[in-house]
Amino acid sequence: MEISLLSGALGAEVKGINLKDSSNDNWQQINNLMLEHKVLFFRDQDISSEEQINLAKKFGPLEKHVYVKGLKDYPEIVRIIKGPEEKHQWGETWHTDVSYSSKPTKVIILRSRKIPPVGGDTMFSNMEIAYETLEDDIKKKIEGKKAIHTSLGAAAFVDKYEEMEGNGNLVEYTNEHPIVRTHPETNKKILYVNSMYTKKIIDMDKKESDEILNKIFQHQERLDFTCRFKWTENAVAIWDNRSTQHQGLTDFFPGRGLGFERIMDRIAVEGDHPK
Ligand code: SIN
Repeated sequence: MEISLLSGALGAEVKGINLKDSSNDNWQQINNLMLEHKVLFFRDQDISSEEQINLAKKFGPLEKHVYVKGLKDYPEIVRIIKGPEEKHQWGETWHTDVSYSSKPTKVIILRSRKIPPVGGDTMFSNMEIAYETLEDDIKKKIEGKKAIHTSLGAAAFVDKYEEMEGNGNLVEYTNEHPIVRTHPETNKKILYVNSMYTKKIIDMDKKESDEILNKIFQHQERLDFTCRFKWTENAVAIWDNRSTQHQGLTDFFPGRGLGFERIMDRIAVEGDHPK
């Protein structure tokens, strides 16, 4: 096995592991590496939808997306499609998947099917380091506090994206989570708010809450907490959604990334109640 680190903060590209193999031993090795590096990348893994599902199931029960229609034969798979002329793509600003849910996603397995020659890399950020490096003054203010996360409604997930289709659910979800959660497997502290879904700190007036959240969001965007993956076809990313944030870059500009399709298959694994 060969491991190449992507940045000083997180992420590793792994060679020598076959993702078609969902045996306990193979999964255990992948899980250990994921806990260590937070996001793993694998190239040239031409796995079928069944193989992607089998591997994902090793991490726990699978989650169906609350708003987006899954594939007809594999409802657990959301096919993320950016059409050639689209300048936006799904997941295009920093976020933690589904943090508006009472049990936000544990792990994501994202597999590339069609990739533009340039543009649409995915960035990841390490929220354990974000917590460790947070100013003491802010750490004190958020100690023991919870924040409200809201889903923004179905429209936010489909209306802007021509190729994404809703499943008809129009309910809006809102849940409270600790601002600092403890990772259930590593026991590390994680800064658990994100600029996409976190709206307000509970038991704090709106002005102060906005000030603190904006400072935290700015801090979370520090480039030294990140890594960036340039996709190739049949590549797979497996990430710990509890301790990271991510965004799909929307750098589709004329004469470069614009004019090409980008297609990814996403499977999410159910998480637990953040504590
Ligand atoms: C996502 O936000 O889940 C998708 C990221 C990507 O397609 O790069």
